[in-house]
Amino acid sequence: MKIVIIGAGGRLGSALMREYRDRFDVVGLNHAQLDLSNFDEIRETLCATNFDVLVNAAGFTNVDLCETERDQAFLINAEAPRIIAEICRDKGAKLLHFSSDYVFDGEKREPYVESDFANPISVYGESKRAGEQSVLQTADRHLVARVSWVFGPDRPSFIDGVIQRAQENEEVAAIGDKFSTPTYTHDIAQMLPRFFELNVEGGVLHFANAGECSWQEYAQWALDCCQGFGISAKAKTVGALKLKDMKNWVARRPAYSVLSSAKYTQLTGASPRAWRDAVADYIRRFYSKT
Ligand SMILES: NC(=O)c1ccc[n+]([C@@H]2O[C@H](COP(=O)([O-])OP(=O)(O)OC[C@H]3O[C@@H](n4cnc5c(N)ncnc54)[C@H](OP(=O)(O)O)[C@@H]3O)[C@@H](O)[C@H]2O)c1
Repeated sequence: MKIVIIGAGGRLGSALMREYRDRFDVVGLNHAQLDLSNFDEIRETLCATNFDVLVNAAGFTNVDLCETERDQAFLINAEAPRIIAEICRDKGAKLLHFSSDYVFDGEKREPYVESDFANPISVYGESKRAGEQSVLQTADRHLVARVSWVFGPDRPSFIDGVIQRAQENEEVAAIGDKFSTPTYTHDIAQMLPRFFELNVEGGVLHFANAGECSWQEYAQWALDCCQGFGISAKAKTVGALKLKDMKNWVARRPAYSVLSSAKYTQLTGASPRAWRDAVADYIRRFYSKT
């Protein structure tokens, strides 16, 4: 099976490259090798390449910048995926396209399922939703995988910032009234091949590690893990901030965007592991010297 990964230099794309290199015939395209704002380049590059599966892990992911660069956000997150989806359809290949929990408005208080109404409250969310629709309208077999709070070793995310701040300062704080689920790139890489076959159902699929937490709980667990693994940090507890106090954010963010992985479990018989286990595994593997 030949796989092309777009966004191969990003947090998720790098992890997919590393995890698939020994298992599949895989070609990665990073931003320098394929610019999604250049549609001629997309067509030339992809039409000249043979593949069975294309994974699109690229995106304009800076949520605040999307507010001021709306056209660019839609170009990369919505219009380019339509071109990619059409090329995949015409080649008889399957597209697996990543989307986000930020397509929801955050008004719900129980995990979002795939059939819940998407009502984005930011330009990033709007552009990701438009990208989903582009992909889904093009071919029944294409899959849109919504993930949340992605972390992994290839590009720093929230958890790495917390650990660094805790190592440099006596006090750290994180938002206590915004909820979702941290999701490990390693776990996403493990689940995705189940959907590579052309005859496997397409549509929208939610995938996140199990459980839910606030950013404060996520940060506290990261520091607890550091302590448990003997990783030094000055701060031991995480104070609470409020979502409404984040005055320097440009974009609105959903207060609750937990994704239910029930459909994934129903389709595969597998359940994602708990977010606390995934975070502990990451910290032990990439921060612990023991
Ligand atoms: N991170 C999260 O918490 C999260 C949550 C929900 C959903 N997602 C989704 O998961 C997917 C992967 O996200 P990630 O965390 O891996 O983000 P990331 O680390 O920011 O990776 C995105 C990649 O897209 C590339 N890219 C940006 N503009 C491009 C362009 N014009 N042409 C080609 N490539 C371009 C970036 O390259 P440069 O860096 O070189 O520009 C980067 O390699 C995205 O679809 C994102 O929306 C992420």
